[in-house]
This record gives sequence, C-alpha cells and structure tokens, in this order.
Amino acid sequence: MRIGVLTAGGDCPGLNAVIRSVVHRAVHDRGDEVIGFEDGFTGLLDGRYRPLDTNDVAGILARGGTILGSARLERDRLREACDNSEELIDRLGLDALIPIGGEGTLTAARMLADAGLPVVGVPKTIDNDISATDRTFGFDTAVGVATEAMDRLKTTAESHQRVMVVEVMGRHAGWIALEAGMAAGAHGICIPERPFEVDDLVKMVEERFAREKKFALICVAEGAHPAEGSMPYEKGVIDQYGHERFVGIGNRLASELEHRLGKEAKPVILGHVQRGGTPTAYDRVLATRFGWHAVEAAHRGDFGQMTALRGTEIVMTPLANAVSELKRVPQDRMDEAESVY
Ligand code: F6P
Repeated sequence: MRIGVLTAGGDCPGLNAVIRSVVHRAVHDRGDEVIGFEDGFTGLLDGRYRPLDTNDVAGILARGGTILGSARLERDRLREACDNSEELIDRLGLDALIPIGGEGTLTAARMLADAGLPVVGVPKTIDNDISATDRTFGFDTAVGVATEAMDRLKTTAESHQRVMVVEVMGRHAGWIALEAGMAAGAHGICIPERPFEVDDLVKMVEERFAREKKFALICVAEGAHPAEGSMPYEKGVIDQYGHERFVGIGNRLASELEHRLGKEAKPVILGHVQRGGTPTAYDRVLATRFGWHAVEAAHRGDFGQMTALRGTEIVMTPLANAVSELKRVPQDRMDEAESVY
C-alpha cells in the first residue's frame, strides 16, 4: 500500500508521535510505502513530499512540533483540486491519505473523501473541542503547561498581593481554562461557554482580601467574554456566534479589575508556549494509538472516517461527525470547578 501522511493547521504536541506510529505500523509491520507531504495540504497540492521510513522517524516520539511542517489551509485551492479529483487521485497515486489536524483539516479531509480520495483522518488540537472524540492529544500537555505556569504565578502573586489574570488558549471552548484552572486552584475561571460577570470577580477578590488571602488567580480562556454590560470600560466585536468578543481578553480584564478594585492586576498571556515542547506521556500514547489505528483502518478500507477515543477504546467514526459541532464545556463541569474556588 502507498500511504501519504500530512500535518495541517496549528501544531500540537504529539504530531510527531502519530507520524512515527504510522511509519512503524505501515512500513515496518505491514511492508507499506509511506510518504510525508510537507507543510500540510500545500505540500499535497504542490507535490512536495518525501519518503518516510523508520530511520526518518527515529527519536521524534518526544519531540514537539511536526517534522513535516504545517500550514493553514488554502481552502480555495483545495476546493479547485477536489473539482478535478480524478487528476489529483492519478497524480498522487495513493492507496490512503492520513491527514492529521483539527477542525479545519478534518473539514478538508471530508471534502477530499467526498471527492473520492481514500482518506483516514486523525484528530488533533490542544483545545480538545472536537466532538467526535473524548480527547485529543496535545490537550494534556497544554493543561500541564498552563497548570505549571499558574502554580508559579500564585507564589509571586501572594508575595506582592496581586491579582493575576492568566489567559490560556481556547477560542471557542474553555477546556484548557477549566482543567488547568481546576488543577492550579484558580479562584476564577472564565470560559467562552458562559459569559462572566466582572462584578462576581470583583466580589471574589474583595472577599479574599477581607479574609486575609491577599492575592487571587483568575484563569481566562482567550475566547471568554463578559456578560453584556458587565465590562463597561471596554467594547468588543460581535463574532459569528453573536457573542461580543474581546481580542486580548486577558489584558482587558486585568485593566478592568485594576480600575474597579484599586489593586494591581497583572495579565499573563501564555499563548503558544502551551503548544510547544515535549508531549506528556498521555499524549504520546494517545497519538501513537491513533497512528496505529489509522493504518489499520486504511488496510480495512475504512475511508471517510477518523480515529476517535471512546472511553479507553480507539474507534473509527465518520469524518462528518467530527466537524458537525464543537465539543463545548457543559454546565455540570463548570459547577464542579466552581465548588472548589
Ligand atoms: O486551535 C488551536 C489554537 O491553539 C487555538 O487555541 C488558538 O486560538 C489558535 O490555535 C492559535 O493559532 P495560531 O497559531 O494561528 O496563532
């Protein structure tokens, strides 16, 4: 079998572990040929690829990023290629294509599958917001990085009697904020799923200072937004879901709190540090299992599907399910988090 593999969209700890696993299972165990496209779908469309054997993937299990490079999707070019799918299929000469990526990549994977390409998707995102799988690799690493950062910020906040507002990734879903916030014992967690009241945060900080706990840690997802009228000194923009979003919510919330509390509030934007570096053991294992099952699915001819975690099992699920809706944080998970403030 000739199998193509590519990584597209934002990078994520564990991508290399999937590539390595695909090569080991396909080349070593099954006697397949594997080629890796460079820079995501751009490499696929431009015909930029290289053969991958077990030597090429030696030592990459614990390495962050992706050895193949990644790029955001050029949707128009891809659509054009799908319109001429016979030419694309002939040109690539693949028996299976394994794109590894998030929502955008899986949507593209579905377009290619609908156009007749033999596609098996592998989901990835640090945001953990793909509905068809219980978990994505990269999430555990991101939560660990954010938790460690907040543990460190707590001690300096306490020394200086400050409020720390820590912005973590998560544009549409607040999984990282929820879990890292819980793990670090944050005193406030703000997520996109539930507009927050600045008054509640002000009250929480004042109560803590009154109880001689003279610091506070607030974990805010980058896509979190205040309830209407709750942050009067700032104005956001209305997004595609009709929510008022604030670009740089961490900075804005810190300045609003400083203004309202008359105490120092420092914003800390964790940004891409959450995506870089070595994956945790959990993410390496999940990524390796996804790669193994993707190759098996290709051999069974299970195309138009992607790997998914259900409980402890890896299953195959239609790509259509992956992109139908975002997995958002349910209310009961927020209730659990709030009872530990
Ligand atoms: O989708 C993953 C993600 O890490 C988001 O949480 C974040 O908003 C985005 O990617 C950042 O993307 P970029 O690397 O393009 O800045």
